[in-house]
Amino acid sequence: MLTERQKDVKKYIAILGFGVVGGGCADVLAQNKKLISERCGFEIEVKYILDLRDFPDSPYADKVVHDYNIILNDPEVELVAEMMGGSHPALEFSLSAMKAKKSVVTSNKEVVATHGLELLACAKENGVTYMFEASVGGGIPVIHTIDTSLVQNDIKEIDGILNGTTNYILTRMNTSGAAFDEALAEAREKGYAEANPAADVDGIDACRKIAILAALAFGRLIAPESIHTEGIRSIDSVDVANASDAGYAVKLIGRTFAENDKICAYVCPMLVGASDPLSTVNDVFNGIKINGDAVGEVMLYGRGAGKMPTASAVVSDIINILTGNGVSYSWRRAEEGEITDFSDVVSRQYIRVSGESGLLASYKKAGDGAYITDAMSEADACKLEKALADEGCEIKARIRVLA
Ligand code: HSE
Repeated sequence: MLTERQKDVKKYIAILGFGVVGGGCADVLAQNKKLISERCGFEIEVKYILDLRDFPDSPYADKVVHDYNIILNDPEVELVAEMMGGSHPALEFSLSAMKAKKSVVTSNKEVVATHGLELLACAKENGVTYMFEASVGGGIPVIHTIDTSLVQNDIKEIDGILNGTTNYILTRMNTSGAAFDEALAEAREKGYAEANPAADVDGIDACRKIAILAALAFGRLIAPESIHTEGIRSIDSVDVANASDAGYAVKLIGRTFAENDKICAYVCPMLVGASDPLSTVNDVFNGIKINGDAVGEVMLYGRGAGKMPTASAVVSDIINILTGNGVSYSWRRAEEGEITDFSDVVSRQYIRVSGESGLLASYKKAGDGAYITDAMSEADACKLEKALADEGCEIKARIRVLA
C-alpha cells in the first residue's frame, strides 16, 4: 500500500495533438487514474494539451494551449506525448522537448521510421528517453515484448499484418462482399485510417512499421524508401475468392528477416495458408509473428488501430518512463549493401491470366486462369511475366505466397 504522502506526488505531462489517439490518451489516464497511481506510486496529470483547435465542450478544455513554448518552458512537465502524426512539426517539437530535458513518447510511425536515428541520438545527448510502443501494432505490446521478454533471442524473422485499415477492408471484401470504397469509408468512420488513407491502402504505413520492427530486431534502421512496398488497391475480389477456395487468405504482409548478413524487408499483399495463424487475423486486428532462435515462434495479436487500444500503448510508455523503466536504443542506418535486393526475394506466386498459357500448365490450378507456381525469385517472376505476355496472355494478377 502507498502512504498518503506518496499518493500526493504528481508527475506532469503534456499531450501534443488532440485527435483520436491524443483524446484516447487523456481518457485512459482519466479512466484508470486510481489504478495507475496505485501501481506507479504517483499520479500522472495532463497539464497541457497542445492543439491548433479549441475544444470548449471537452472536459479537458482548460488544458488546451496553442503556444508550444508554454510547455517547453514549464519545468514541471517531465514528459511530452506526441500524437500529432506526420513528420513535421512532430520532429521539431520532439527534438525541442528533449533538448528541454523532457522525455518523449509517440504513436507516430512516420517520424520514428523516417527520423528515428536523429530522435534517438537527441534523447541520448540530453539524458532523456524516446519511446514509441504505439507506433506499431496499435494496442499490441510488440515493441516492449521484443525489448524485454525476447531480448535474449537472436531474432530470425518477423512477419506481420501491421495495418488495421487494410485488414479491415480485406476482411469486409472477403466476408461480406463489400466494395473497396465502402469498406474504406467504414474504416475512416471508426478512426482506424490515417489522415490521408492512401498511406494505409498503398502500404506506406505498414512499410514504416516493418522498418521499425526490423530496427528493433537487427539494430539497423532501413530508410522506408529502400523497402519494397505494395498496397492493396490492385486486389480483385476474384483473387480473394480464388485464394479462399485454394485454402488461403489474402493479407497485406510486412516481412523482415536476416540472411547472409543482409536484412530483407518488404510489404505486399500475400496469400497466407490456412495453417498459418496470420490467416485468421481479421477486421482491425493485427497479428505479428516473431521467430527467435531460442523461443521459436511467438505470435502477438490485438487491435492494430483505434482510439483506446493505441492510447493504451502510449500510456504504457508514459508509465515506463516515469517509473524509471524507459528503454534506450542504439540503432544505426542500414547501408545499401546490407539490404537484400527485392529481385532476390524467393516465393511461390499466384498468377491469374486471361488466355491459354502453356507456360503455366504444369502448375497447380487455383481458379479460372489462375495458378500457384513453385518458388522462384522476383527476378525470375518478372521474366515469367514477360514470357507470358510474349505467349499472348494478359496478366490479371500476381500475388506472392507467404511460405
Ligand atoms: N492507420 C493505421 C492502421 C493506424 O490502420 O493500422 C494504426 O497505426
